[in-house]
Amino acid sequence: MTMNPIETIAVHDWQSPVARELAAHALDALEAGCVLRLPLPFALSADEQVLLSDTLLSGARKNISYNPVNNSVKGADGDAQLETLLRGMLGRYHASTRALALKLFAPYSGHMLDGRTSYRPAEIAGRVPKSWRHDDTRLHVDAFPATPVHGRRLLRFFNNVNPHGEPRRWNVGEPFADVAARFFPRLPDHSPLKARLMALTRITKSKRTAYDHYMLNLHDGMKADLDYQSQVAKTPAAFAPGETWIVYSDQVSHAVMSGRFMLEQTYYVPVAALQYPERSPLRVLEKLAGRALV
Ligand SMILES: [Fe+2]
Repeated sequence: MTMNPIETIAVHDWQSPVARELAAHALDALEAGCVLRLPLPFALSADEQVLLSDTLLSGARKNISYNPVNNSVKGADGDAQLETLLRGMLGRYHASTRALALKLFAPYSGHMLDGRTSYRPAEIAGRVPKSWRHDDTRLHVDAFPATPVHGRRLLRFFNNVNPHGEPRRWNVGEPFADVAARFFPRLPDHSPLKARLMALTRITKSKRTAYDHYMLNLHDGMKADLDYQSQVAKTPAAFAPGETWIVYSDQVSHAVMSGRFMLEQTYYVPVAALQYPERSPLRVLEKLAGRALV
């Protein structure tokens, strides 16, 4: 079956069962590096409407984060009542996306680790990033300097809850294999000694593996190359309010151009749980490197 960079998956509600063929197609498209687009709104209660304001953000923060593991909320400026509402909305988003994930991606059952839930009320367009590394309007694959993933995948569920009819606009870049083939030859070598020192001095939360090193340098290399940014083929995507989209953000080259009021849930998936592990960034990079990277 031919696949588009953005594949529509006809799931309209969070509760109904998903047909086996549709789930198989969704998993195939997800692991092939497509963005799955679902006409699936996430409803806020009447009480929660008060959360649709960017004045909730504390200081210069760009998002409010919720940790499903200990039920804690960070990044919000408000009283206990507001925090209770945030905890309720984000906790429900986490539970909804997890239940949907296990219907769409049954092989991940028992293997998906919870990451953070995040709420991003602030407008992206016109924001001045701290540095070019933080500029998410440039195409990139996700990789985080302080949090090594040791080969685990970054599976992310997004939902546009914008109450003003505004879409969230993305650009989607070229397939991961093309990104990797283009940039890998110019990436600096991994230094195990430097990785140990960074873990010892707590610059990283655990040891940065060769995989984490190359992914981070891929992220930086893409963002730093302005010729690449202007010349590479891009597919624009506008996610309307009421749409959910699901993506392996370590694999799909993406840039966020505009939008506000979005929910996001991260999961970590081990490569061993994938249906098509050979398509994963880990295996693609290992092939280019000619050695194991974790
Ligand atoms: Fe990103």
